[in-house]
Amino acid sequence: MQKGIENINKFTSIMLDVKNEALAQIVDAGNINELEELKIAYLGRNGKLTTLIKKIKDLSISEKKQAGGLINEVKNTILDALATQKNTLKESARDWFDASIPGKKPTIGHLHLITQAIREISSTFEKIGFVRVRYPEVEWDWYAFESLNIPRDHPARDDWETFFIDTPPHSKYGLMVLTPHTSSGQVREMMRVKKPPIRMLNIAKNYRRQSDVSHVPMFHQFEGLVIDEGISVAHLKGTLDYFARNFFGKDRKTRLRPHHFQFTEPSFEVDISCGVCKGNGCKLCKEGWLELGGAGMVHPNVLKNGKIDPNKYTGFAFGWGVERTFMMKAGLEIGDIRLLYSPDLKFLRQF
Ligand code: PHE
Repeated sequence: MQKGIENINKFTSIMLDVKNEALAQIVDAGNINELEELKIAYLGRNGKLTTLIKKIKDLSISEKKQAGGLINEVKNTILDALATQKNTLKESARDWFDASIPGKKPTIGHLHLITQAIREISSTFEKIGFVRVRYPEVEWDWYAFESLNIPRDHPARDDWETFFIDTPPHSKYGLMVLTPHTSSGQVREMMRVKKPPIRMLNIAKNYRRQSDVSHVPMFHQFEGLVIDEGISVAHLKGTLDYFARNFFGKDRKTRLRPHHFQFTEPSFEVDISCGVCKGNGCKLCKEGWLELGGAGMVHPNVLKNGKIDPNKYTGFAFGWGVERTFMMKAGLEIGDIRLLYSPDLKFLRQF
């Protein structure tokens, strides 16, 4: 290091040398560690600048003043340069790309399981000529009940626990309701097609006043309606067996049990042979069969309401819950069906 400093000129020239040397080294520094080392080498307790400052004791008082100004300027310049270079190094570190690090996989979503089920049900029935249709979710009482041979005061209407919309009733169609079942599409379809054959598949949202572990107030049904000359229970049974084999599996069968609906005569409850015990009886099904839903031969009064001649045409209809059918297929035992419509991703991602 420089020994004695006789005057301000010498001091100034040494200071400027130190400054230039420091700036050159700072700009060359390749990483943050090197910068830290340079900071110590110049500004640390034994750093070049610090040592030099100590030497101003040899200068005269007026020279000391000048030297002080210079010292501040050099010190600040070096500090600025250190900060600037630090930023530059940080930026380039960010640009640096390591191709060997495994990438982050974006999570890929999937269709909701009920959407998956609806697509599968549609494609199964489309293969045998059913045409998928949609009818209003907000419906008139007439299509939902009256036209289906369920008169206003009939106790059967309690079964549907319907939501009524608070508007004045229509003179012909009555009150507005949230569709309680897909059967409300039956007469609409007859009026749309006008002349059989009809092969309708109506899949829609339904609403009923119910909410517990096995019921949600909004759920889905799929409804089949076939009308033509000479349609019999044999066609219904054949269609149901086709669906059972294709949707549930080759070895599955259906059976019909007598039941009652106002809009079908005769009416049935449809069961499917249990997939676990193959119809022999087990813990899941008890006696070998699982209940799917309702079906029957279209009541002549319903055909009349749809302007179809019941003496010429006959038909069958069935209407089942999508949620229930899907759970049966997957062999799922969902403790609380309301989970299907909760935003719980842990649950939904499983399917
Ligand atoms: N709509 C009936 C229900 O919701 C089911 C059904 C449809 C029955 C078609 C017979 C024919 O329970």
